[in-house]
Amino acid sequence: MKRTKINIAVLVSGGGTNLQALINAQSTGILKSGEIKLVISNKADAYALQRAAAAGIETAVVSKKELGADGMEKAISELLSRRKIDLIVLAGFMCILSAGFTAKYDHRIINVHPSLIPSFCGEGYYGLRVHKAALEKGVKVTGATVHFVNEIPDGGEIILQKAVTVPKNATPESLQNRVMRLAEWKILPRACEITAKNILKEEKDNERV
Ligand code: GAR
Repeated sequence: MKRTKINIAVLVSGGGTNLQALINAQSTGILKSGEIKLVISNKADAYALQRAAAAGIETAVVSKKELGADGMEKAISELLSRRKIDLIVLAGFMCILSAGFTAKYDHRIINVHPSLIPSFCGEGYYGLRVHKAALEKGVKVTGATVHFVNEIPDGGEIILQKAVTVPKNATPESLQNRVMRLAEWKILPRACEITAKNILKEEKDNERV
């Protein structure tokens, strides 16, 4: 019997609203070609862990502070192979992964970034900083991007993007919330489904050969 779902791990660091969007997408059937089997956080107090637990998903904490960058990646790799994970979703995961790690999971890691790449992205652009920079520049349109992760921070192939207008008097906080609500929570589940479906298709095609 061919499988109908791949195994997904979500990596988080904070509030986990994007994780919640993925969990909800599983319930509504928007995400149907994959199942979240594991949530890994580099922070023990990340609220995202509580969201995962409430949804009955296995969680793990892998601290970069305690293990160092190499140790953290090694621990993550072990968890991923133990749970036979096919796709890694970075949903507010605030650590940059090494070239060695990203090469090992080529086209198997996706990330959501809160701007229209190539604007306001790369090292140093994360979370509220992205929205602060967008407001300082005075852009009238911003948005979110879901992309594959490679050795260049925010440099991998783009899967989906969604634009959002910048209201007058927006603050970094209000803009963050607007971009999440109107873009991130929509395109992350969709991009996840697209990628999961493609992985299943590749598997099927390989079986035929
Ligand atoms: C999201 O806005 C996500 O795009 C951003 O952090 C926030 C996490 O929120 N990620 C980055 O800036 C990565 N470069 P969440 O924990 O509520 O999903």
